[in-house]
Amino acid sequence: MSKICVIGTGYVGLVTGVCFADLGNEVHCLDINEKRITELNNGIMPIYEPGLEEIVERNVNAKRIFFTTDYEAALSQAEFAFIAVGTPSGVDGEADLQYVREAAEKIAEVVDHSIIIVNKSTVPVGTGDWAADIIRKKRGNDELEFSVVSNPEFLREGSAINDFMQPDRVVLGSFDHSAAEKVAKLYHSLRAPILITDLRTAEMIKYASNAFLATKISFINEIANICDELGADVREVADGMGLDKRIGRSFLDAGLGWGGSCFPKDVKALAHMAVLHNSQPQLLQAVMDINRNQRRRIVYKLRNVLDGSFSEKKIGVLGLSFKPNTDDMREAPATEIIYLLLNENAAVQAYDPQAMENAAAELPEITLCKDPYDTAKGVDALILATEWNEFKQLDFNRIFKLMRTPILVDGRNQWDSTRLREIGFTYIGIGQGNHNGNGGQS
Ligand code: UDX
Repeated sequence: MSKICVIGTGYVGLVTGVCFADLGNEVHCLDINEKRITELNNGIMPIYEPGLEEIVERNVNAKRIFFTTDYEAALSQAEFAFIAVGTPSGVDGEADLQYVREAAEKIAEVVDHSIIIVNKSTVPVGTGDWAADIIRKKRGNDELEFSVVSNPEFLREGSAINDFMQPDRVVLGSFDHSAAEKVAKLYHSLRAPILITDLRTAEMIKYASNAFLATKISFINEIANICDELGADVREVADGMGLDKRIGRSFLDAGLGWGGSCFPKDVKALAHMAVLHNSQPQLLQAVMDINRNQRRRIVYKLRNVLDGSFSEKKIGVLGLSFKPNTDDMREAPATEIIYLLLNENAAVQAYDPQAMENAAAELPEITLCKDPYDTAKGVDALILATEWNEFKQLDFNRIFKLMRTPILVDGRNQWDSTRLREIGFTYIGIGQGNHNGNGGQS
């Protein structure tokens, strides 16, 4: 059993803290946000994450996890201090490190025993050294015995607990190999491969992994756009590609592209690092351009079907979160599509199983509906933006009667186009060669 302090109680910090507690450690989760800490102490989660409430409750009851705003109390006995604070995008896409700086300075201020500082936040390559410098400067002559270990996270929202407990790999980077070995021991019971390298390489593994996954998605979206013109079906293209174990089927689902708090931020930050160091990120730039255009393309397709204009039209949107099983709307494709529609004087109504509270704050100009059928009422088109399970087997005969014009835009290629066309819908998919519904054949 180890004593761990986790600084930051967002997706990464809270999940990391509670999972380490579930493995038997004593974990003190620290945040500067008093409201969030009070809510956590009352069993209210700051984020929607399947299974999070139960695992937190179990570990609070077992007195393995504690939530506090008191740095001294949280760090006093800690052998490890995990930094898991946000690193939002700055103006040019560079990561904003103010919260990492504050955490490092606070550690320097209150810690008076040997400690291993583990950075879990996604930080530009070289930040590990920078954080160590901050601590040394803060301490001045009052030496502190510490090491910095980079331990990037690979958690996906909506499956974060599972991704922590069953990781494909654990990556650790440090100039102090024995410190990295000590952090490795925290993960041994997970029986996953543990790679120990240097600080900068570990930080780069995180960026390169996310950038590659984003590249896979932009690649299949570019193939989808070509399939539309050539009458091929990108879903089966992806199946055929994925059978090659060098390619793999995952992250080859064409659709509205990637959103969330990680891919957009990390790809931009990596491209920015490249430019800062005289390297041209041509591929990363194209990956971002394709992703942005994927949202615009679906609006373009729909406008063509709606006799070229959205004014006086009502559009329904199913799904507002950036992906299923989360309430997170950061960089969600739905948001950009809705802005584009509003900008062309469409009226928009929408529903999402989890993100309605966020939507009320972020999209005051739209009408929020109570379920998919309410969203279909009186609309000229219905767009599937997020592939929540409850949108996959809708009663389309009922939907057909509810809509003013039966146009379906399947932004995530989830629906059965043949069956929908038989009911009488105009169906628009992504990369299904669907000019005229029979694979683009004239
Ligand atoms: C991602 C990485 O997967 C994770 O390892 C990292 O730690 C954080 O960033 P996350 O952003 O939570 O996780 O979601 P992810 O499941 O990766 O999806 C990212 C985006 O890609 C979503 O908008 C999703 O809709 C989109 N996506 C995913 C596709 O468009 N097609 C796919 O085939 C897969």
